[in-house]
Amino acid sequence: MILSGGTGTRLWPLSREGYPKQFWPLLGSETMLQQTAGRAMGAEFAPAVVVCNEAHRFLVAEQLREAKVEGARILLEPAGRNSAPAIAAAALLVAEQSPEDVIWVKAADAAITDVPALHAALARAVVAAQAGRIVTFGMRPTAPETGYGYIEPGAELAEAPGVMRLERFIEKPDAAKAADLLADGRHLWNSGMFVATAATLLAELERFAPEVVRSVTAAIAEAKRDLDFVRLGAQAFGAAPAISIDYAVMEKTSLAAVVPADIGWSDLGSWAALWEVGEKDGRGNVVSGPVSLVDAEGCLVRSEGILTGVVGLKDVVIVTTDDAVLAMPRDRAQDVKRLVDQLRRSG
Ligand code: GDD
Ligand code: MG
Repeated sequence: MILSGGTGTRLWPLSREGYPKQFWPLLGSETMLQQTAGRAMGAEFAPAVVVCNEAHRFLVAEQLREAKVEGARILLEPAGRNSAPAIAAAALLVAEQSPEDVIWVKAADAAITDVPALHAALARAVVAAQAGRIVTFGMRPTAPETGYGYIEPGAELAEAPGVMRLERFIEKPDAAKAADLLADGRHLWNSGMFVATAATLLAELERFAPEVVRSVTAAIAEAKRDLDFVRLGAQAFGAAPAISIDYAVMEKTSLAAVVPADIGWSDLGSWAALWEVGEKDGRGNVVSGPVSLVDAEGCLVRSEGILTGVVGLKDVVIVTTDDAVLAMPRDRAQDVKRLVDQLRRSG
């Protein structure tokens, strides 16, 4: 199951409401959605269920077709209600046929460079999921990030080698807490991927977020099905509380587990993150598109078409698209969100 409904605000001006970041090629030639779907192709995987906004239906269908992803079903949200309702909808769809099927929930917008390691971790997670767990993937933290979930692993599960009990899940701690969690050396970051059976996901959603299940069940009952598209009932889905799976279930459930994994994961959430993972020239610049640099160092410069020149700048981000330009120090990358909020307010 691929969650593809986010808006990727911090990657403005590339990521826009009409064309968010998961539909762009951020690393390599395929889009993030295509790369994500590509990691779950082959005989051992059932066809994907992609959950996205109704407005993006043709974009999703076209990108999947282009990447030769076959048999995918596309669940359409009339409006995003965050990840708990999206996951509930996919789980209900799967449970119509086979509630004991294991679902691999993943975000459409993360980079993963070591796919064999990912698949090895997934195989371990599936064993725990079949034993009734909701399995997360634990990433080694490198900074006191406040935008992630933190996981405290416990003892290894007897029934699933390589998978630990999850002692505590802390979603988006404040800065002081994040610093503590990093310093104690035990906590891992949540990658935003989960593995569990449809039945387990629905039981825990029912336990901790019954209104989500009630609204989404009604939205599925009213859904219009047309070829690969399942269009959720608008009124019922709109009534679902807007809450993420992390707050709704992961912080509360006693069924959580974690498989620690070193998979070259990066949440490409900001321009700084893209600079981190990007291929650098001899002076630490990451460039793409028609760009020319003189005496630049540590910069990310991306142009979607307009010839873009940079002279004598250090550690900055410059992004040009057809209709907008962004320029900022690299270490202000989180504040793009503020810029976008301001632009929204001013219409
Ligand atoms: N279909 C759908 N509908 N998808 C959604 C919606 C929605 O309303 N809202 C978000 N998503 C998708 C996003 O596109 C993304 O793929 C995924 O769900 C996670 O949403 P984010 O909004 O990016 O969450 P986050 O980054 O704040 O936090 C999550 O990811 C972190 C790692 O990147 C959490 O799971 C954290 O615990 C985790 O560390
Ligand atoms: Mg995210």
